[in-house]
Amino acid sequence: MTTIGPATGRTLRVAAQVALNAPSIFNTQPWRWVVEDHAMQLWADRSRQLLVADPDGRLLTVSCGAALHHARVALAVAGHHAQVRPLPDPAEPDLLAEVSLGTDADPGTEDWAAYAAISQRRTDRRAFTGQPVPVAVIQRLIALTEREGAHLAVLRGGEIDDLAILAARAAELQFADPAYRHELAAWTLTAPQSPANGSGVPAETAVSPSARRVPIREFAPPGGSALDPGSENDGGTLYAVLFTDEDTPSAWLRAGQALSALLLAATAAGLAGSPISDVTEHTLTRERLRHVLAGIGAPQLAVRIGYPPDGTPPASPRRRLGEVVNLSS
Ligand SMILES: Cc1cc2nc3c(=O)[nH]c(=O)nc-3n(C[C@H](O)[C@H](O)[C@H](O)COP(=O)(O)O)c2cc1C
Repeated sequence: MTTIGPATGRTLRVAAQVALNAPSIFNTQPWRWVVEDHAMQLWADRSRQLLVADPDGRLLTVSCGAALHHARVALAVAGHHAQVRPLPDPAEPDLLAEVSLGTDADPGTEDWAAYAAISQRRTDRRAFTGQPVPVAVIQRLIALTEREGAHLAVLRGGEIDDLAILAARAAELQFADPAYRHELAAWTLTAPQSPANGSGVPAETAVSPSARRVPIREFAPPGGSALDPGSENDGGTLYAVLFTDEDTPSAWLRAGQALSALLLAATAAGLAGSPISDVTEHTLTRERLRHVLAGIGAPQLAVRIGYPPDGTPPASPRRRLGEVVNLSS
């Protein structure tokens, strides 16, 4: 039997706990951690894959990448520069990464800011205000994305109109498919949440349908409770596409880490954001989005970032640590 050093094991379990706050597609939290002596493995949990919206498990892997980045932030503030072994291995495709404590390093102000943002961040689907995102923040989001091995294409003028057309088309194509509607309903929480539930998108965090600069995915069931999109018009909202050079599971994992890094940095700067992935879930709209990027890479998802109106959307539920962590034996 492997024995887990108490301090190491505790630090890794805390990192896994913090990682539960990461954003994930439909709030599926599709990961599992196996805590070993001095390291923990990140596994994809295929039982939580969206087989209709995400048949290849691409957005599942992006979500796992976001959890991995959250765990790295937790380890950084605990004084460790986490070492991530480059996986997945084609022989073991569900084993996505191995994280060990790495070298000791004093946390910097960036690490503390990212850590503080973890509990504040929410996917905010309301319309953002007309105040533009400062250029310095945009540059920082681009730099953070590059640091994680992905790229951020900031859309301007006509490109935002292209994104809006593609997002509307993606919604049309998906809602025409009964299997998609069924999957969406299965992961949209309309009943009061039981504490055991721990996953899915609460209807109160979805916005009610309205004319938007770029359409937002409709989770809210007709007549169900939903957040008021507010009276702002997204005038200052930054729309960007997160993309990678390759379209492989390791690139998806990098994209997820980049997504987490940029959402936390935006939160720390007083901004809010929400991913827009439906536009990449249908082959046709994803291919068109690749053209919007002039074919320079593989679009993984779009994001919108901006200054939110007053108030904060409610928090979405999370699974319990015991459901996502196994101790190796
Ligand atoms: C890969 C990925 C794709 C997502 N796609 C969308 C989307 O298309 N529309 C949306 O409103 N939210 C999207 N989200 C946000 C999730 O719905 C959200 O993270 C989850 O419901 C948990 O809520 P929280 O982020 O407020 O903790 C996505 C998140 C991830 C990681």
